[in-house]
Amino acid sequence: MIKLTSTGKDFSQLKWDKVNSSVKEIAKKIDNRTGEGADFLGWTNYASKLDPKLIKDIETTAKEIRSNFDSLVVIGIGGSYLGAKAVIDAINGLYPNDNFEIFFLGQTMSTNYTKQVLNKLRNKNFAINVISKSGTTLEPSLAFRLCKNLLLEKHDKEYLKKAIYATTDSSKGLLRKEADTNGYKTFVIPDDVGGRFSVITPVGLLPIACADISIKDFIKGVIEGEKEYSIADLEKNPAYKYGALRYLLYSQKHYASEMYITYEPQYKSIIEWLKQLFDESEGKDNKALLCSSAVFSTDLHSLGQFIQEGSPCLFETILWVEESNEKIEIPFVKGDEDQLNFVAKKTLNYVNTQAYKATLDAHTSSHTPANVISIKKLDAKALGNLLYFFFRACAFSAYLLNVNPFNQPGVEVYKKKMFTLLGRK
Ligand code: PA5
Repeated sequence: MIKLTSTGKDFSQLKWDKVNSSVKEIAKKIDNRTGEGADFLGWTNYASKLDPKLIKDIETTAKEIRSNFDSLVVIGIGGSYLGAKAVIDAINGLYPNDNFEIFFLGQTMSTNYTKQVLNKLRNKNFAINVISKSGTTLEPSLAFRLCKNLLLEKHDKEYLKKAIYATTDSSKGLLRKEADTNGYKTFVIPDDVGGRFSVITPVGLLPIACADISIKDFIKGVIEGEKEYSIADLEKNPAYKYGALRYLLYSQKHYASEMYITYEPQYKSIIEWLKQLFDESEGKDNKALLCSSAVFSTDLHSLGQFIQEGSPCLFETILWVEESNEKIEIPFVKGDEDQLNFVAKKTLNYVNTQAYKATLDAHTSSHTPANVISIKKLDAKALGNLLYFFFRACAFSAYLLNVNPFNQPGVEVYKKKMFTLLGRK
């Protein structure tokens, strides 16, 4: 169960009238699919309606990929890769103990990064999961072409059928056309679920299953979230309460930015996913908080000074997971040359926890308020629940802000200019 707490003097000064009187109306907009962008509210009950045959198909496909190949390259950008990466990093860690490797490509057009991944793949027996709802996004399309070329260095065209798995629209787009023409196995991204809400569909589920993580447990957590975070009562629903808090800090206390914080490097991808979820959903009509991210205590040694004493423009939202999967005990050393025996026999997690408590106190007693979203342990089920918590919080907060949470018209501007420069007809 997710616990939400808030610390800082601002919280007692917030005026709740407007929010309190909008809760039921906004909850209805989400549940009855009547709000702006309602065509993209399919995620609200997607998990509980998920056909068990689809889950089985994804599990069987993942098993097949893991036994026929030694690695998978996931090709996608934005909502078509961030969620899967968030879950895989969070559960398996940054240096997983698994012979089967997962690479990500198509989220950048960096030559250095792309070359490094292609060089790794050259010596691997790899499969491809190419993911694009539109089927036309430049970054993944280019990466897909490069990966197919790499496969064709060693294999014939027929082989592509075995090695390529495409996740895309049911009927539209170039990727759908190519997949159908060439007989690639495909999974469908539902029409009514947008990219940044798609981790609970085959977009996220296939890569997650390929990383040997239980998608059944993940989906269980989402289904529990469907119940817990749809209650139209701020005191009983921490997702709506958090959505309201961030809106009030923006609209009444005029904070410009929300900084997502984790004390666990393997959860950094979760807060990267969060940045996309909130910034792309809310940043329109010249409004919204800018979401940023930091990993503490690492970034306390770069951003800590600014947060403590610099411009008071941000508040923090800390993702705090009480239990660590691993345990390291600090050894007692005779002679205490490095003078660290004051923490001898304590766990590293205990020390990290004191750093969290001390930092929360230091920042909130200065000018940086903080929300803490805490969870006991982050396994696949808790993670499904947590991501759904943020879906609901995001939709609620965006409707309070009076923006359509489900479009991203601004993203098209750079694309049009880029295609003009590249000479696409
Ligand atoms: O959330 C979104 O809709 C976007 O981030 C898209 O997922 C991203 O732009 C990739 O689009 P596509 O899946 O069409 O390639």
